[in-house]
Amino acid sequence: MPDEYRLILKHIDAPGYAPDIDTYLRHDGYADLKKALALPPITLPAGAVLDGPARIRNEVRLSGLRGRGGAGFPAGTKWSFIDHKTTKPIYLICNADESEPGTFKDRQIIHKDPHQLLEGMIIACYANDVHLAYIYIRGEFIPGARLLQRALDEARAHHFLGPNILGSGYNLEIHIHRGAGAYICGEETGLIESLEGKRPYPRIKPPYYPAVLGLYGCPTIVNNVETLCAVKHVVAMGGAAYAQLGTPTDPGTRIVCVSGHVRKPGYFEIQIGQVTLGQLVSDFAGGLRDGRKLKAIIPGGSSAKILRAGEKYKLKTKRPDGREIEREVALLDLPYDAESLSAAGSMCGSAAVIVLDDSADMVSVLANISEFYAHESCGQCTPCREGSLWMSKALARLARGQGRQQDADYLLHIANNISGGRTICAFGEACAWPVQSTVAKFKDEFTG
Ligand SMILES: Cc1cc2nc3c(=O)[nH]c(=O)nc-3n(C[C@H](O)[C@H](O)[C@H](O)COP(=O)(O)O)c2cc1C
Ligand code: SF4
Repeated sequence: MPDEYRLILKHIDAPGYAPDIDTYLRHDGYADLKKALALPPITLPAGAVLDGPARIRNEVRLSGLRGRGGAGFPAGTKWSFIDHKTTKPIYLICNADESEPGTFKDRQIIHKDPHQLLEGMIIACYANDVHLAYIYIRGEFIPGARLLQRALDEARAHHFLGPNILGSGYNLEIHIHRGAGAYICGEETGLIESLEGKRPYPRIKPPYYPAVLGLYGCPTIVNNVETLCAVKHVVAMGGAAYAQLGTPTDPGTRIVCVSGHVRKPGYFEIQIGQVTLGQLVSDFAGGLRDGRKLKAIIPGGSSAKILRAGEKYKLKTKRPDGREIEREVALLDLPYDAESLSAAGSMCGSAAVIVLDDSADMVSVLANISEFYAHESCGQCTPCREGSLWMSKALARLARGQGRQQDADYLLHIANNISGGRTICAFGEACAWPVQSTVAKFKDEFTG
């Protein structure tokens, strides 16, 4: 049985580990911030000089760390889009909206180890010349927001925040902004609109890439809670050492949330790609209920394309001599990493693995998911606003037993006209993918 690889969750759940600064300091808390602030400039072989912040940015680039919010974009590349010669302020926003159904990892960090998030965030801000940052937290997370506020007050009292942090000359303020509870507030440009006090209508990209035209029209970095925690560990280990964890294209660890038809739903931190879906289900989440068989897995939050048990998935692996070999694996043998899940036709997304056994009625499952998306569409784009509602209504009718023979094609027709870059934000894909994949893979249940 594989073990968890607890880097971010190292202390979480240990007896007596409290979410306060004394506990955090007793466990070497803020040592990585001290290390980051003390990094001296170095001269590269080519003659370029990297100051301390640039060295951290370089380590994050070397680490290959991908964002943990859903899109999996490399953090170092995102940070490299910031123009440090700008005369505008640079902002950093921690995305703590955690809105993707099936995902419950960020709130564990916020509730049980808030100072780890703050330490990662302060390091990321220092690295990117940020002096004002925000934590955008989902409105429903009331205890989480309180805990974070207490942690911010404690950090300020210990001079880890505020003016002249630890005598380094570096100043930073972090504010908490509570959202009003809408899925679309998790989308980074919708989030920025909301933070500016407006309706969370996602912005059109280009031109509104946050790194260029973000909060108040200024360069802005938006990163997920877990990504910012990982930055602390990149500084602790060094980028090259972090890149040794996981896989070459998806390095590090990930906190995977397993839910649905398993005996012990929960969150598990694994080395990416070193654990299969089967091990997540059986070894970590206690396996299926007695007498049940696996039917399908949604591997990356409700918007990820569903994968059917019994199908074979083609994976390419590199042999030690560099040659590529193709092999076919069963669903449960798929390693949990971005490349493998993409080859299987889905994604890791927000790392929420939703398990469905043979008791699941796929029409009801999809009706449930589609109702959520129809409710959460912000309404700016016609295909998403109208299409999500039409799909939801058709699925509710099907679930009531009033299906028509042509419904499967009707649903696919709508989904295909929402997805494919026709909308302002990726929500369009998010509401279409579950319909496209579930109808295609379980067509008999939609036509029978
Ligand atoms: C509809 C939608 C909802 C999203 N919800 C979240 C969310 O709740 N939390 C999150 O971190 N990212 C969410 N994202 C992704 C963000 O837009 C953004 O990519 C992410 O916060 C960047 O952080 P990362 O690079 O560290 O992953 C969502 C994206 C979309 C399209
Ligand atoms: S795709 Fe949907 S959620 Fe995104 S902007 Fe358009 S209508 Fe709003």
